[in-house]
Amino acid sequence: MFDSEFSSIEFAGMKLANRFAVAPMTRVSAQSNGRANELMLKHYRRYAEGGFALIITEGIFPDQDASQGYENQPGLADALQGESWRPIIREVHEQGAKIIAQLMHAGAQQQYNSFGKAPLGITEQKPVGKPLGLYGDQESWQDVKAMDESDFERVLNGFLHGLRNAKEAGFDGAELHGANGYLLHEILSTHFNTRDDKWGGDMQRRAQFVLEVVKAAREMAGKDFVLGIRLSQITITDPDYQWPEGEEGFAWLVQALADAGIDYIHTTDNHANRPALKDGTRSLAEVVRDAGVPLVVNGGIDDTNYAKMAAHYPGAVLALGKAALADPQFVEKVKDGDKPDELDFAMLQPLANLENEFRWREEQDS
Ligand SMILES: Cc1cc2nc3c(=O)[nH]c(=O)nc-3n(C[C@H](O)[C@H](O)[C@H](O)COP(=O)(O)O)c2cc1C
Repeated sequence: MFDSEFSSIEFAGMKLANRFAVAPMTRVSAQSNGRANELMLKHYRRYAEGGFALIITEGIFPDQDASQGYENQPGLADALQGESWRPIIREVHEQGAKIIAQLMHAGAQQQYNSFGKAPLGITEQKPVGKPLGLYGDQESWQDVKAMDESDFERVLNGFLHGLRNAKEAGFDGAELHGANGYLLHEILSTHFNTRDDKWGGDMQRRAQFVLEVVKAAREMAGKDFVLGIRLSQITITDPDYQWPEGEEGFAWLVQALADAGIDYIHTTDNHANRPALKDGTRSLAEVVRDAGVPLVVNGGIDDTNYAKMAAHYPGAVLALGKAALADPQFVEKVKDGDKPDELDFAMLQPLANLENEFRWREEQDS
């Protein structure tokens, strides 16, 4: 098949075997010291074996400050954590796939921090709703420390620190997590960012810190290390939030990120094609597509709609979360015309860790 979603493409400086990626998914399965382990190797390997050309890792904490959000979350905060990813990266590469590290600062959504750091936010504002039981058993959000001037510098340096370790470990690139209610998202969101100093105000002002991080990360990444950013309006507990600036504001942000040197923008929403913005008709992904910026598109993509999505977003990478979780063989199966497995959330109970998933899979097989 020529030019199909199963053909290889050049994307953001990478040659990908096809247009399917695994979306980032937190699995709280690292060692307590934040190092990746055998189980994670087994986990990531199956996606490369199952035909996914690109794996975007679960959110990884980049430093020993307030960035860690979950117990048993993997880190890239020290050299040994970086080393621990090497076997995973090697295995994924041997299967012909690429792997990008998602760098995540938990912000106000922190549920656990092994360095004893309180949640850090753009203000003291807590997220809506309750913490996710899938990632730990916290009942309510903790108090949040509002960032002062020195925190901005520390957060920026933290991202650079994680990026350097990701590069040294051999990842193909890094994705800054600016979506789903974590710190960089909070800085862009008026639910959290109500500051009246230079870090708050309209989209242009709220975006300044994110753009500073992107520019500094670009410089550190160099030319051959891919640098992406994930963006959403919604958060893990707030499916309704919208930026007040609507389509025009988002289009401005997309262009500003491109000008700052980002290689791709990864949009996520409940459904990739949903008109998302306050005063517009386009989805987040359509705005990125129309700006001509390399796009990773996520949200509700499955075996019934992937071909339509691929045609609607030419040249974009399709990132699958739940569909990949349900069936790591998704790509091989749909390519052969077979039906992939459907998701059973029982595999993520009571915690979304790999031990529970692999135990559940064994039970299904027996
Ligand atoms: C168990 C689980 C863990 C997730 N962890 C992350 C994460 O670490 N980083 C992130 O950006 N999104 C995370 N997400 C969101 C997914 O990447 C994706 O955006 C979401 O599932 C919607 O896409 P889908 O309809 O393809 O599943 C997670 C989703 C699930 C189900």
